[in-house]
Amino acid sequence: MSKAYQQPNEADRSKFLEQLGSDRVRWDAEAIHSAASDMTEDLVFLPSLVVFPETTEEVSQIVRHCYLRAIPLTVRGAGTGLSGGALPVEGGLVLSTARMNAQPKIDEANMQVFVQPGVITQVLQSCVEEKGLFYPPDPSSRGSSFIGGNLAESSGGPRAVKYGVTKDYVLNLEVVLADGRIMETGARVLKNATGYNLTQLMIGSEGTLAIITGITLRLIPLPTLRWTFLVPFQNPNQAVSAVAHVFKAGLTPSAMEFMERDAIAYTLAKRPDLAFPEAELAQAYLLVELDGFDEDELQRQTDRLIPVLEGFEPNEIWMATTAAETEGLWKVRRSIGEAVKSHSIYKEQDTVVPRFFLPELLAYVKELGAEFGFESVCYGHAGDGNLHVNILRGKLSEQAWEQELPIAIRKLFKKVKELGGTLSGEHGIGWVQKNYMDLVCSPAQLEMMRGIKSVFDPKNILNPGKIFPDAK
Ligand code: LAC
Ligand code: ZN
Repeated sequence: MSKAYQQPNEADRSKFLEQLGSDRVRWDAEAIHSAASDMTEDLVFLPSLVVFPETTEEVSQIVRHCYLRAIPLTVRGAGTGLSGGALPVEGGLVLSTARMNAQPKIDEANMQVFVQPGVITQVLQSCVEEKGLFYPPDPSSRGSSFIGGNLAESSGGPRAVKYGVTKDYVLNLEVVLADGRIMETGARVLKNATGYNLTQLMIGSEGTLAIITGITLRLIPLPTLRWTFLVPFQNPNQAVSAVAHVFKAGLTPSAMEFMERDAIAYTLAKRPDLAFPEAELAQAYLLVELDGFDEDELQRQTDRLIPVLEGFEPNEIWMATTAAETEGLWKVRRSIGEAVKSHSIYKEQDTVVPRFFLPELLAYVKELGAEFGFESVCYGHAGDGNLHVNILRGKLSEQAWEQELPIAIRKLFKKVKELGGTLSGEHGIGWVQKNYMDLVCSPAQLEMMRGIKSVFDPKNILNPGKIFPDAK
């Protein structure tokens, strides 16, 4: 750990105890261990202290104290992140937003919702859906992830392909700055041409610039119809090749997901409770959804969609006919990440390229696997060109995993860059991807980002050790 920082001592603990009470300041083994890892690989970094504020004012006082004492402070949502954004790599204090979960306040007239960062994404969605409103971003972890973490990591999900990602719904934020000042980033309006866009600067900043304490989101009308198709292919290349053609045909599905055979196989092995329409698995699948308000319109879109897909030689296309069947398919899709993780430790690459280049990307992943001797499971948001490449640890030696694999990953990202893509579509950079940043960001770009960081966080106490590559 860096000597530039202080670790919380007894006097710090007393200060926080006085402020928050004993159940909201914890340093027992259970609290420390549950704040030490997230869903990223098998990484563990122990903090010294975990605090659970409930209000913005409390956050402000905690941050101010850490600022004065130079205590590293890492914000933690639900810990579902996949790039290590919530890992307290310099120890110090973890500020959990778990208690900042007051009932969301819906402004139906303006189609907006105000929410604290610790509200579970799906709880927020259900809340607004009761009013016929829709908050579309739907990361697979939505049943447990917090909305604040979704903003911090710039998360997406399957529906992004039609509706956009988390950032596209954020109108205004209340944040606590590194020295404890409370600030709004913008205004709760649909248009805003008032100076620099500080609101969007916070999205994807992974807790390194300020702490998000209040979020105003825009909402849209909730579609009433969803038609879901499962499209099996014997040739994975044909599956990913079909994707760009669907959009070129003028269709905008509300989901266009790709899943390799093993992604499904591992999921069904781990979750025998889940149903899948096919007993005999094909080599790859597209999960395609159309949504809207009008049955005739969806029929017209279906009549255009099916011939495009059929041009790529799928097996028989299956359509869900009940809500339970639709939900069943999505449960399988959303469970892939955890199932692959329980099959083997893996390193996840959240590659994203312009969608027409997906076949080239997928072929290159497999080529690299053959060269470096690793197995990969690929799936993801094909409509967005966002392919989650999970490289399995399997039986790879320590040497191959720690020393050789980073070489393979660098080659992969070089290819991604050549194809016009970048390191992460929706999981962030955090701790595990930072040393690949030089492949996609120029020295000028990194210098601008560092400059922004130092303006917001001059003492580098907010989530230190993230995003920026290690000094060589
Ligand atoms: C998913 C997560 C891993 O797409 O992003 O399931
Ligand atoms: Zn994803």
